[in-house]
Parts: sequence; structure tokens; C-alpha cells
Amino acid sequence: MTTDLDQLRQNLVASIDAATGLDALEAIRVQALGKQGAITGLLKTLGGMSPDERQAQGPRIHGLREAVTGALAARKDALEKAALDARLAGEKLDMTLPVDGVPAGSVHPVSQVMDELAEIFADLGFAVASGPEIEDDWHNFTALNIPETHPARAMHDTFYLAGEHERPMVLRTHTSPVQIRTMMANKPPIRIIAPGRVYRSDSDATHTPMFHQIEGLVIDKGITLGHLKWTLETFLKAFFERDDIVLRLRPSYFPFTEPSAEVDVGFTWTNGKRVIGGSGDAAGGGWMEVLGSGMVHRKVIEAAGLDPTEWQGFAFGTGVDRLAMLKYGMDDLRPFFDGDLRWLKHYGFSALDVPTLSGGVGA
Ligand code: PHE
Repeated sequence: MTTDLDQLRQNLVASIDAATGLDALEAIRVQALGKQGAITGLLKTLGGMSPDERQAQGPRIHGLREAVTGALAARKDALEKAALDARLAGEKLDMTLPVDGVPAGSVHPVSQVMDELAEIFADLGFAVASGPEIEDDWHNFTALNIPETHPARAMHDTFYLAGEHERPMVLRTHTSPVQIRTMMANKPPIRIIAPGRVYRSDSDATHTPMFHQIEGLVIDKGITLGHLKWTLETFLKAFFERDDIVLRLRPSYFPFTEPSAEVDVGFTWTNGKRVIGGSGDAAGGGWMEVLGSGMVHRKVIEAAGLDPTEWQGFAFGTGVDRLAMLKYGMDDLRPFFDGDLRWLKHYGFSALDVPTLSGGVGA
């Protein structure tokens, strides 16, 4: 019996120490200590022994059980620690490695153009303002002189949000609600641009349901259309990095400006491509619409809580994606938002090429 127990202990401890995984270890535990296990069987024999025999064997069998339980626990610890070490080693990232061969990120043309615009307008004394993309219909429409029955609401292909709200909620269809928010939150004089995402239910080669606009707003005393035209001309010259930008202001209609003007820039066909610059009336030329603009309607100034006899101003809005397409030569808008790495690599900008006026904004 003595040698049997010693032998059993040796065998069990040896196989426990040799177990290479938690499953194998569990199988050994069941073999020894499970309901049908060898040690469990030995413990059961204690009941049938004479008191003397039990006194001699009891401590031995219990000692065996303790030794095996201890060996199992120690091996389990060691295996778990080894598994964790292996996992940590496998997931290790060497942050000091050069990123050779790994595709580096690039700045999306939309971000690049927004940075360029912020740089150009900062130089003209404009601050950058923002507003929420989930907007209420009062800011998006009503305060901009687009009452509920106005056909412009249908023209905007608005996404309305489901559910009960104090005011109907929409995904903003343009950046113009930032005009209202800015006038309500700040005292004039005001000079801001507001770049951001806007949403319309529309999709083809030149429209995506989400796109980007930039709004401009100036509120001061004695502001005229002349200030508007000068500002847009200065902006477009800096943006396209050419002095021969020619603008054409066409009478138009927006509910929130009066008078309203659509702004075209002249281009010439060069090697089958439109190149911005020169008069659109020149031979081989044409006009391209780039902006909506006008003098801020007095009802809009009033809705924002200002006195329109005291304060006047101009506003303009344009598509950032469209400006990017014109400047950097893409002809399809949809890949802008496909996340295709090949497109991003081709059209993206280095993160280190921060646009500056002195370096040329399109650095
Ligand atoms: N919000 C107009 C649009 O989305 C653009 C615009 C802005 C026109 C400001 C005039 C003044 O079409």
C-alpha cells in the first residue's frame, strides 16, 4: 500500500508537470480527483477500514490528495502565465519601428481645402464658427426667411428626423443656420466662415447625400455689395492661386439674401480640361457657377435679434467638395467618400504640407 501510494503520487505529479495545456491538466485532475478518480476511490476506502488501519492510512491518503491538488494549482498558474506572456509577446507593437511598407495616411482633399479656406479667410480677419449637423427647422429654415410653406423646403430634399421633438429636427441642408447661431451668440461686427457637413437626399456623380459647404458672413455698419465682390474676388484669387480670376455676379434668388447673386468664375478649355482663370467670354472660355451669395435679408437680421436699420451685411455659401474638384481635377464626387486607399493615396496630401499663404495655400 505504501509503495502504491508513493508510486501514484510520483506518476500523477510527473504527468501534471508534463501537461502542456489547460485541457490536459483538467483531464489529469478528473482522473485523480473526479468522481471516479483514483484518489477519490482511495478516500472512499477509508470508511471500510479498521480504526487502526484508518489512523495509519488516513493521513497518507489525505497527504496524497493535498500534494496532487497543490501540484495541479501550481501547474495551472504556470500554464496561464505562459499563455498570457505568449499573447503579450504576440500583440507587442514596436512603436519605434519606421513605418516602411505600411501605407501612410494622407490628408483628404476636403480637409485640405477646408484648411486652405481657413488660412485664406483668417488673413482677411474672419473667425471660424460652427453649428450642429442635427439642426432644428427654425434655424435651418424659418429664421432664414424660409417659412413652413416655402417651396425652398422641398427644393432642399431635407432629411427629417423621426420622433417627437419640441421643434422638428432635420439634418442641416446647408451651413446657413450657422449665420443665425453666430448672430444670436455674438455682438456685431461679425466676420466668420463656417465650414462643415451638410445633408440632402440626392445622389449621382456630382451629388452625395452628405457633402461639405462653407458659409461666410459679415455683419457691420454700411456693408455693401462692393465689399462682397471684393471679398469673393480676393478669396478666389488666393484659393486658385491666380491673379487673372474674373468673376461674374448673376442676379439670383435665395430667401435669406436680398439682393442675391450667383457667382461664376471664368475658365478656359486647355487640353480638354477646364482651367480656372480669364474671362469666360473670351474665345474658348466659359463660366462656371461657384458660389451663392447676397446681402443678408433684413428679416434674417431681425430673426437673429439684431436691428436691421443698424446692422447690414453679406453672406455667401459654396460647396467645399466642388472647390476641391475644380482645384485638384477630380471629376466624380462619389469616390470622395468611398474610403478607397488608392484614391486617397493619389489625391491625398501629406500631413506635413500645412497650407500657408506665404508657401502657396495648396503647398
Ligand atoms: N445656403 C445656400 C445653399 O445652400 C448658399 C448661400 C449661402 C446663398 C449664403 C447665399 C448666401 O445653396
